[in-house]
Amino acid sequence: QIIQPPLVAWANGAFSHAPVIRKTTRIQDLTAVFADGQAWRSCDPQLPVYTVEMLETPAGEGELWTGVTHLNPGKVGNEFFMTRGHFHARREQGEVYFGLRGQGLLLLQDEHGKARLETVCAGSVHIIPGFTAHRLINTGSEILSALAVWPTIAGHDYAALQGGFALRVQEENQQICVCEVQNG
Ligand code: PA5
Ligand code: NI
Repeated sequence: QIIQPPLVAWANGAFSHAPVIRKTTRIQDLTAVFADGQAWRSCDPQLPVYTVEMLETPAGEGELWTGVTHLNPGKVGNEFFMTRGHFHARREQGEVYFGLRGQGLLLLQDEHGKARLETVCAGSVHIIPGFTAHRLINTGSEILSALAVWPTIAGHDYAALQGGFALRVQEENQQICVCEVQNG
């Protein structure tokens, strides 16, 4: 018996031949995520920042989610559009990201607050170890798309990062600028 598996178009991350769960995160959903609150309030609250499409998968021990994040280009004030970012609720669980299109950064931060950045582009492979928070940042002018695979048992812990990440990525004089945050 030959089965048609789901397809992902490497050029743009579009899934086909499978049911997909889709969630769009808008400016209004990203309270206290961007540094410039005044600039955030002046944005269209309905403006989509990113959409995640996931293959429908039975959850459970040993199962894996497969999803693509499409992060739009844009800025709030001078800070590039980014995902909310999270630790996994099950801290020891890792994840793998594969860059598909666009230009950006993957911000990684350990439990001691030590942060680092990896460049994301078509073909980049990012091994996110356990105990490591992660956030995508679109520093380009096109959509940044990345494929991710992670255990369904991992879960998301957004609350642990309410104080924010230790680094912010902004545009200054048309240059990408990484700033260290005090008390991040
Ligand atoms: O599992 C992941 O890490 C990704 O699929 C993210 O959930 C996705 O990029 C959206 O980011 P966040 O969950 O931080 O809003
Ligand atoms: Ni994750």
